[in-house]
Amino acid sequence: GVAVGRRVSSRRKWGRVIGVLKELEEGCETQVGRLKQVVDAMAVEMHAGLASEGGSKLRMLLTFVDKLPSGREKGTYYTLDLGDSYFRILRVQLGGHGSSINAHDVERQPIPEDLMTGGSKDLFDFIALVFKQFVEKEEYGSGYPFDRGGLGFTFSFPVKQTSISSGILMKWTKGFSIGDMVGKEVVKCLQEALTSKGLNIRVSVLVNDTVGTLALGHYHDPDTVAAVIIGTGTNACYMERTDAIIKCQGRLTSSGSMVVNMEWGNFWSLHLPRTPYDVDLDVDSPNPGEQGFEKMISGMYLGEIVRRVILRMSIESDILKPVSSKLSLPFVLRTPLIASMHEDDSPDLTKVTRILRGTLDVPDVPIKVRKLLVNICDVVTRRAARLVAAGIVGILKKIGRDGGGGVASGRGKPKTKMRRTVVAMEGDLYRDYSMFREYLNEAMIEILGEDLAQHVILKVMEDGSGIGAALLAASNSAGHDADDT
Ligand code: GLC
Repeated sequence: GVAVGRRVSSRRKWGRVIGVLKELEEGCETQVGRLKQVVDAMAVEMHAGLASEGGSKLRMLLTFVDKLPSGREKGTYYTLDLGDSYFRILRVQLGGHGSSINAHDVERQPIPEDLMTGGSKDLFDFIALVFKQFVEKEEYGSGYPFDRGGLGFTFSFPVKQTSISSGILMKWTKGFSIGDMVGKEVVKCLQEALTSKGLNIRVSVLVNDTVGTLALGHYHDPDTVAAVIIGTGTNACYMERTDAIIKCQGRLTSSGSMVVNMEWGNFWSLHLPRTPYDVDLDVDSPNPGEQGFEKMISGMYLGEIVRRVILRMSIESDILKPVSSKLSLPFVLRTPLIASMHEDDSPDLTKVTRILRGTLDVPDVPIKVRKLLVNICDVVTRRAARLVAAGIVGILKKIGRDGGGGVASGRGKPKTKMRRTVVAMEGDLYRDYSMFREYLNEAMIEILGEDLAQHVILKVMEDGSGIGAALLAASNSAGHDADDT
């Protein structure tokens, strides 16, 4: 009696846990038909965002970058990079003649958490202080080496730019939330902070990380037409014809092109597969209703989605009882940990055991439960990667590089021959998570078909955000292309 009863109840508990997984799988469904709907929605929203200000959740921001680096840029440049939990200073040496670039972090500091939600002055004072310490350490004396081209500033948030070196912050994303900063001139804030520390240095370009990545991609390979970041946040930019940017017609030169920062993290469509976990995560976030695409895809959120699923399982069944309340702490399960659970190839899933115990305080669970957890990571990551693929094809569709002749070109047109098309990729999720990359590539092939997909090349551009800003500072400074003059 007792033994049988116990067996029945443990089978029932297991059944409940499996039920949670099944529901998750259904909620995260991304069959190719659905992905194609996301492709179309992305292309349609791009049009809408270009047609009028506020015409879409896709902001489609002007960058005032109208030419990409040529390969002849020369000199030593410095970039300040602010966009996730680290602030960095990069030194970038450009040799001209398309020679290789020598770049490295000369400074890298975690941003104290209270500064991410405090006042803007504190944040910029911190940046200026780190920069000042760097300058003092280098003992440049009176002649800074960054006088000529000025500093590049990579600021990876939605900015309404008014020129290549100015713009106002529209919103915070990625957990930053400094109220008094929204609506302010970003470069002015930085410039004031630098000046107050006695540093009279000009900030010559203000760029989004995607734009820097596109610049570096194009420097190495002129077939590069777009850039995608999948890191703490996610976003994309691409080269657009100025006459297609209808919302500013008349204000931009009608010929030529300009890089558009899509801010695709804020993309939304009813075709996106959304689960109750996504809904709850959004409600609990500092920016509910915003960055919906980003919250399903980027490194800041994937681990948190998985944590919420595991928490739900632990409530449904005591197969997974945590000893402490660690499992209920938002954001304890960082995305690198779910990558390492997902890619644990040891026969007994020892990494999974270690992470469960160390991070979530869940004591040893049977192997079948550990396998189930790997499964959760798989479902959540696969959905993210496949949605990125759909987003990329959406861009290709908008610019007529999906083999179909573009959205605007009408029905019945013959399919154009596919040109070699390169997309520059950056961000640790893409760089360091091989299952993510595999799922993304697989979905590209499913959506485009083998023949077309082979013309689309995704290339990692390491440090593109910072190096690209230096390239743009170089190509926008007077007297660049020094080899020619
Ligand atoms: C967020 C920011 C965006 C940035 C992206 C990747 O989505 O809003 O500007 O490019 O993160 O860092």
